Amino acid sequence: MVVEEVYLNGEYLPAAEASISVFDRGFIFGDGVYEVIPVYGGKLFRLQQHLDRLRYSLGEIRLPAPLSDKGITLMFERLLNDRSDDASIYLQITRGSAPRNHAFPDKMTPTILAYVQGLAYPDKAQRESGICAVSFPDQRWQRCDIKSVSLLANVLARQFAHEHDAAEAVLFRDGILTEGAASTLFVVHNGGLLTPASGQSILPGITRELVLELACNHGLHCQQTDISEKQVKEADELWLSSSTKEILPIVKLDGKPVGSGKPGPYYHQLIKLYDEFKLRFRNGEVS
Ligand code: PDD
Repeated sequence: MVVEEVYLNGEYLPAAEASISVFDRGFIFGDGVYEVIPVYGGKLFRLQQHLDRLRYSLGEIRLPAPLSDKGITLMFERLLNDRSDDASIYLQITRGSAPRNHAFPDKMTPTILAYVQGLAYPDKAQRESGICAVSFPDQRWQRCDIKSVSLLANVLARQFAHEHDAAEAVLFRDGILTEGAASTLFVVHNGGLLTPASGQSILPGITRELVLELACNHGLHCQQTDISEKQVKEADELWLSSSTKEILPIVKLDGKPVGSGKPGPYYHQLIKLYDEFKLRFRNGEVS
């Protein structure tokens, strides 16, 4: 889907007419944060959770929130313009434009950009047969809990995966699993469902939170813990989750089959629960 309209600093503009200063700190330093919010049937999925995480990211980088939750929601609704299809919204807030100096300027006018884009769902084949992934060292900074637009290490990890015919890079720091280049990871090991513990090494994924909620509500215990590289290599199942990929099984890691080499029973159970939840959301039964 081609992006035709964007919201930029209070204005709704044709994308081709929107421009920012070359001195924007987002451009110069990667000094900003972002969110990607899925839209199902024209409705914003897990909106409050995304707004809460945005507020957390802004707080952690000491950027005063330039818009209230209500203001952001109204802006999203105007961008969606009564559409009723599936899409996603990209929102980015940077510290604005100033002469280049690492320290913050005294007065800042943040740059706010948002637009609706297509939701590139995983195709049926990927959901049914799974995807390939490769291991890669986690070379990111130590505040991966902040959804920062500084994504160079994620970009290099995903590019490495791409060059090795894989859809995702599985990141390890000091022999411990962190997350994917742009996803949360879940592991089934010795019959138990595991995911890396929350903290500064991973993004608090909104899809992760929903998977944990669904698992817990259906009596499936998911342990949040350190997971070693060895445990990942001998896993029965490995899957990723994100707002745009939902839940996807990884069936090959570094060219070797994960477990049976096919999506496993835990994945099948969780994707069924996830799909049911989405359907109830579309029907307005859950928010
Ligand atoms: N990324 N970890 C990282 C590093 C991510 O970039 C993402 C998502 C996730 C999953 O978070 P969530 O479930 O809230 O989408 C975990 C988005 C989709 C992106 O950068 O496009």
